[in-house]
Amino acid sequence: MTKSVKDLAIIILAAGKGTRMKSSLPKVLHKIAGEPMIRHILKTAESLKPSKIVTVISENMDDVKQAVAPHPTAIQKQQKGTADAVKSAMAELGDFKGDVLVLYGDVPLVTKETLVALLEHHRMGKNFGATVLAMVPPNPTGYGRIFQNADGTLKEIIEEKDANDDERLVRLVNSGLMVMEGDNLSERLDRIKNKNAQKEFYLVDLPNILKEDDLETGVIRGDYYELRGVNSRAQLAELEMSWQHRKRLEIMNDGVTLLDPNTVYFTADTKIGRDTIIGPSVIFGPNVEIEDNVEIRAFSHIEGAKIKSGACIGPFARIRPDTVIEQDARIGNFVEVKNAHIGEGAKANHLGYIGDAELGAQSNFGCGAITVNYDGQKKSKTIIGDNVMIGSNSSLIAPIEIGNGAYIAAGSTLSKNVEQDALVIARAETKSLAGKAKGRLKLK
Ligand code: UD1
Ligand code: CA
Repeated sequence: MTKSVKDLAIIILAAGKGTRMKSSLPKVLHKIAGEPMIRHILKTAESLKPSKIVTVISENMDDVKQAVAPHPTAIQKQQKGTADAVKSAMAELGDFKGDVLVLYGDVPLVTKETLVALLEHHRMGKNFGATVLAMVPPNPTGYGRIFQNADGTLKEIIEEKDANDDERLVRLVNSGLMVMEGDNLSERLDRIKNKNAQKEFYLVDLPNILKEDDLETGVIRGDYYELRGVNSRAQLAELEMSWQHRKRLEIMNDGVTLLDPNTVYFTADTKIGRDTIIGPSVIFGPNVEIEDNVEIRAFSHIEGAKIKSGACIGPFARIRPDTVIEQDARIGNFVEVKNAHIGEGAKANHLGYIGDAELGAQSNFGCGAITVNYDGQKKSKTIIGDNVMIGSNSSLIAPIEIGNGAYIAAGSTLSKNVEQDALVIARAETKSLAGKAKGRLKLK
């Protein structure tokens, strides 16, 4: 087998407690763009098509185990350091002999391109036993400092806590991500000692062990903005911003207009078609698909919805899960739509609630009209046909069906089905009592 077609296995370290998050949730389950960090890194790992991805977790992390399924996990009983964590995964790797790539669950935004560059650099090195991914952060505090030989190979990595003042001035630091030879890895990890300030078994000592075996360690530099990790909530927010920034550029690059990009928020799975125009302060929750030529106006909140071509949403619209909005339909300001199908060209322009409902093609759902879908115990359905006019401020008490072409007068409260083409007025008749108003209002 030549070096370049070597098999790849990936180990994702995620056993750390994440104390600084001050959370009852394992750190890697905190979300970026609506998805747990561990899912971001897992997707990138999968894109490299390795023969195995093993995630190292600690005991009582069943929720992380579920988040990575069907990929296997390995349990590290005590957090004795990064080398010990990798060791915990060795049984899962069996007698794997290819390249082993170590990723961190709390470094979720590394790109496939960067990892491919790392693997290529490693595979090109004539005598490399490992290659580390380095970076230059604005502030190196907390990171292991990287020292290189004249030929660019690694001399050593000194952890912050073990470094002296001069060594701490070095700006090139270890991202923690590295690739190493799977051959003899177990045996080499066993040779790592915990003689350091933290009394931990450091993976960054592997290069020293490789030296004993006459092997070198390569160094390649990556972009800090994708290699930085999450240790605190503030860093979680920073990575969220980074992710959103990247996604906005990608979306605009795909032919979508964002009128004020920095105020629009996406979820990892948001899909948006060409020539769609998105106004300021629009938020996309999970599972949104928007076709071409849609207009989403300012301050709309959309989740779990499919919105078809030519539709116009907002400003100030709220679209909730399980909603489909057909072509050229219009959902205007202060309208909430949930679990509903809005037919082609249908309109709900102002102040309404459409929940558990179907609104037929070209129908008009008037201002202030609502579906009364919940009786305190169960949800019921409202089915409105095509070309129906629902007058302003009507209440449709579900379950109810309204036939095609029906016309419901404004202010009606309907609790019975309406036949096709019927005109229905379901409100108290107006009585006018001449002069009776006098004296009813005390004028000051
Ligand atoms: C590590 C590197 C440091 C690098 C930094 C980048 C070592 C010794 N140091 O330091 O050079 O600059 O990352 O962020 O490798 N983990 C386990 N089990 C353990 C210990 C850690 O699974 O016993 C996991 C953590 O969940 C985390 C990752 O390994 O995902 C890194 O651990 P962490 O303690 O954050 O390492 P640092 O001290 O930051
Ligand atoms: Ca860390």
